[in-house]
Order: sequence, then C-alpha cells, then structure tokens
Amino acid sequence: MTKEYIDNNRQKFIDELIDLLKIPSVSADSKFKGNVRQAAEYVQQSLLTAGADRAEICETEGHPIVYGEKIVDPQLPTILVYGHYDVQPADPYELWDSPPFEPVIKDEKIYARGACDDKGQMFMHIKAFEAMKATDALACNVKFMIEGEEEVGSDNLEVFIRENKEKLAADIILISDTAIIANDTPSITVGLRGLSYMEVEVTGPNRDLHSGVYGGAVANPINILCEMITSLMNKDGHITIPGFYDKVAELSGPEREAMNAAPFNLDEYKQELDIKEVKGEKGYTTLERVGIRPTLDVNGIWGGYTGEGAKTVLPSKAYAKISMRLVPNQDSGEITELFTQHFQSIAPDYVKVKATPHHGGEPAVTPTDSVAYAAASAAFEESWGKTPIPTRDGGSIPIVSLFKEVLGLDSVLMGFGLDSDAIHSPNEHYGLFNYMKGIETIAMFHKHFAKLNSST
Ligand code: BES
Ligand code: MN
Ligand code: MN
Repeated sequence: MTKEYIDNNRQKFIDELIDLLKIPSVSADSKFKGNVRQAAEYVQQSLLTAGADRAEICETEGHPIVYGEKIVDPQLPTILVYGHYDVQPADPYELWDSPPFEPVIKDEKIYARGACDDKGQMFMHIKAFEAMKATDALACNVKFMIEGEEEVGSDNLEVFIRENKEKLAADIILISDTAIIANDTPSITVGLRGLSYMEVEVTGPNRDLHSGVYGGAVANPINILCEMITSLMNKDGHITIPGFYDKVAELSGPEREAMNAAPFNLDEYKQELDIKEVKGEKGYTTLERVGIRPTLDVNGIWGGYTGEGAKTVLPSKAYAKISMRLVPNQDSGEITELFTQHFQSIAPDYVKVKATPHHGGEPAVTPTDSVAYAAASAAFEESWGKTPIPTRDGGSIPIVSLFKEVLGLDSVLMGFGLDSDAIHSPNEHYGLFNYMKGIETIAMFHKHFAKLNSST
C-alpha cells in the first residue's frame, strides 16, 4: 500500500530533503550560480531514482528548468506538477539560530532556507510519486516542471512554456507552494495576488553636502522621499494613485461573508506578531485586506550615511523599493504605469525622480467547481478527516496566470505550509507533520483525480 510505503520510508524521505536543503540555491545572487545548478541536478536525479521515464535539465538564459515525466498510459489523465528549487537569499544571516544551509530538526520541524518555500513542498511530489510507483498505484500520468527562478520572477519559465506547449500538455497543474490555515484546519488556496514592484531614486543636490553648511537651505532627498511615500496612502489606508482601484473586482456580500467565515483569531494573530493593533484599509477585515484588497508597501529604503557612528551629511540621493500587491482584475503593467506617472507628478521642484520597474505578475483565481478541486477536497477529507476551506492567499505566484493564458490550464494550489513557517525570513522551517501528511495527500489527489475523471 502507498500509505505504508510512505510511513516505512519516513526517515529516508526526511534525509533526502535535508540533502537538498544543504544546497544554497539562491537564484537572486550570482555567487550561488553553481549551487543552483547543483540543486537542479539533485532534483533530476531524484526524479530518475523515483521511477520517471526520463528527467532532463533544460537550459534557459538563466537558471535551468528540470523536466521529468512518467507516462503510465496515454488514456489516463495527466497531472503537471510545478514547483521551484530556488530559494530566497538567507540574509540577514546573524538572525538565524542555526546556519540556513545546515538543516536541523527541532521540535518536529526542519529549519533551513527553502524548507517550506519551496524545496520541502516541491519534494513532497517527488516522494509521493516514488511511493505510488513503488506500490504500483500510479493512477495518472505525471509530468514535473521544477524551475530555478521563481523567486526572481520566472521570466525564463514563461519562455519555456510558450515554446513547449505540446510537451506540457496535461489536464491540470498541481502546485504546493502556498499555506493551509492550520494543521487542524486544512484549506485549499483559490486566489493569489499579483505584483508590481518599483525602485525609485530621488536626487537633490548634485553632491553630498555638509548638513551644517547647507542644512535648512537645500531639500534633503531622504526627507522628500519620505513625504512622497507617505502621501501614497491616506489615513483610511487607501492608495492615492489616481486610477489605482479602477479595475479592482469587488466581492459580493455573500462572497465576503463566506470569506470571513473561515477560522481566524485576531488576538492570536496579533500575539504571534507581537503587535498591539493591526493596520489596514478601512472597511475591510484582516482576511480581506490580505486576500482581496490591493496594497502598497516599502520593502527597503536607503541613502545617506548608515555606517557606524555619526556622519553629518545632507545626501544627494535617496532610494526605495516599493511593492504593490494586486487583485483581480488589476493589470501589473497598467499599475506600474500609473505609479510611475503619479510618482513623477508629485515630485516637488527640489528634486528629480526616477522610477524603474522590477519583475511583476498578475493575480490569479482558480475554480472551485472543477473535477480537480473536488479531487483535492476529497484527498484532504481522506487524509485529514476534514473538508478543506477555500482561501485566498496574499502572496504571488505569477506563473499561475500564465499557465492559464499560455497552456489553457487551471492550477490546483494544494499547499501545506503555515503562515508561521517564516518563509523569506530568518529561521524558515517546515513541519515534519506537514511534510509527511502532504506526501500522503498528494498521492490521494492522484487517486481521486483519476477516479473522478473516469466517472465524468
Ligand atoms: N511561495 C511563494 C508565494 C506564496 C507564499 C503564495 C505564501 C501564497 C502563500 C513564492 O515563492 C513567492 O515568494 N512569490 C513572490 C513573488 C515573486 C515574483 C518573487 C512573492 O509573493 O513575493
Ligand atoms: Mn514559493
Ligand atoms: Mn518565495
């Protein structure tokens, strides 16, 4: 039985994930280029060992994509698994309790960069495949497309899917790169936000000045940048960029009610983050603010002197990185344009401003009335004993909307992480319970997806 194979191989599955987590496959930092490839090769080897007919490294202009497949019978439905083996930079290293690429298990959780996002979650699919193959239980054909550039925008994956439509033909895309509500409250993600990401540069005087000699007479670009940023949102938490909300889809009353019926404890939420109060757009709950409303946040801001001690300087330049999370039916290209125009228009004569876009992506919603959703729901019911709740997550996986546009395929976002797993942060971790239960649930998805397809 598949479940027995999974249980009997628990230690092996954990050890193999730990070996993958030891490879620092940071896609954003060219210093790790060789390690990124090493992680791709590890994934390729794992697919072959697990029983794939073939697994190959597909070169791109950036980091490689691993493609593998097992075709059991062309008559059976085909699941295309997407995941990513690249990880976010581990900085700041000094805030980790143990080194990010030396995985340790503490309190039944694996601590390492990528443990949850997405190595741990992606690897569950390879282990579920291995278990089904070993126990002769493969009910669907399966294709794997595991990329190494998700954390830097998936530009080359977009090229890859446009060029390989036939090879990637499938019935559904299955992704584990999102979160559940809690370990006793399973959920399926049915919405993701989009992203528009800008870098701005504000220039005042043509050189750094003595802050005593010139201070008070010449505008300080850091002060000006702060004023400009502050003006982007009013006291009700509304973004002031003209046209920003024009295309935002408003949910109906019943839809909002359903969303707010999901278990959520605001006191625990605040306690976990050690904050006295939450803050967000007036008129919306925390779940709505994260799930169905767009936002604007400064991700980083710098300029002037930040070294040791005090240097008296009125800097020439100030910078910030600003992200906007988008919801249906906003368009990241349009929002980038609106931001750029507005930011230029509010610049006072004391400064010059430049705004440059970074990678972005579109929001996505996935259907809940599909065979695939029913199969995912049945898989959770069978392995968790509870019907999963549909939720909208605040994060972004830009390729999901392109899967629909380019391949015509819907995705099932069957993630098993927790919001508290500290993805992108120091001490990222992934629960062993989630890892093992996820493997089991994925195998059940294959079974139910085949069954439901043959009965429709
Ligand atoms: N897996 C995350 C996205 C995510 C996390 C979705 C939690 C839902 C719940 C993904 O790896 C990620 O971090 N995406 C980036 C966007 C990308 C363009 C860098 C993000 O959301 O910031
Ligand atoms: Mn991810
Ligand atoms: Mn991520």
